[in-house]
Amino acid sequence: MQSTSKCRFCNLVTVGSTRIQSLFPPQVVTAEVDPTVVEEKILHPAEEALVSSAVPKRRREFAAGRACARAALAELGKAAGPILSGVRNEPRWPEGVIGSITHTNGYCAAAVASEDAIRSVGLDVERSDSMPRELWSYICTNEEFEWLSGWPQDDIGSLVKLIFCVKECVYKCQYPITHEFLDFLDVEIAFNNKQEGFVAKIVDKTHIKKQLGSSLEGRCFVDDGFVHSGMVLVRK
Ligand SMILES: CC(C)(COP(=O)(O)OP(=O)(O)OC[C@H]1O[C@@H](n2cnc3c(N)ncnc32)[C@H](O)[C@@H]1OP(=O)(O)O)[C@@H](O)C(=O)NCCC(=O)NCCS
Repeated sequence: MQSTSKCRFCNLVTVGSTRIQSLFPPQVVTAEVDPTVVEEKILHPAEEALVSSAVPKRRREFAAGRACARAALAELGKAAGPILSGVRNEPRWPEGVIGSITHTNGYCAAAVASEDAIRSVGLDVERSDSMPRELWSYICTNEEFEWLSGWPQDDIGSLVKLIFCVKECVYKCQYPITHEFLDFLDVEIAFNNKQEGFVAKIVDKTHIKKQLGSSLEGRCFVDDGFVHSGMVLVRK
């Protein structure tokens, strides 16, 4: 399904052969763009109304996210009208589609899939700079601090950034199913040896575990100044 191409509507967005595609199975279509090159005029009036009072950077990032979402949806063969936002800011996808959007300084991407194939998608990309020390305890559980203690002191801030990115990805993936806010300490992450894959565990909150199932796994990597994480929940 995926190809190396620019979107047929907007020559700025890359569809298919993106830096984030390796995070996902082939049923997921990804698109990416540098948000600084996207113009707000790509927005539908109803989308524009959602960010009319926002600062220019936010309006541009929102437009870039919608541009990526539309390009990925077109590749999936799904027509997209306005993609509005729900009560907790989650994107409201066209019927039969699920997806996720991320934007950070210099990068924006979306991942979408047909609901028949995939139950939910989560995607998050952050700059790979070090997480300030005063935030570590809001983000990491005791188990995660235990894991971090095995690393050189100079690496820990970047690893906390990776944990942060993965937790935001888990949050975006679980929200469309549970409609619940989760705090960073409600989720615990364990990485594989090379930090290319992760397993997320919901701490307590039995009702959420029941809704999501036991297998919360995803992929992540750090490259070229960015931390990337993605996951899907598959249909049984
Ligand atoms: C919602 C949140 C995860 C967004 O992450 P972020 O790094 O700040 O921003 P990103 O650019 O990567 O993602 C923003 C996009 O996420 C999507 N998003 C926002 N809220 C969402 C939700 N509740 N569910 C799914 N997707 C959501 C939107 O598409 C948004 O972009 P848009 O407003 O332009 O449409 C974050 O702001 C937040 O509220 N975090 C607290 C909850 C959390 O992460 N808990 C972690 C433990 S699970």
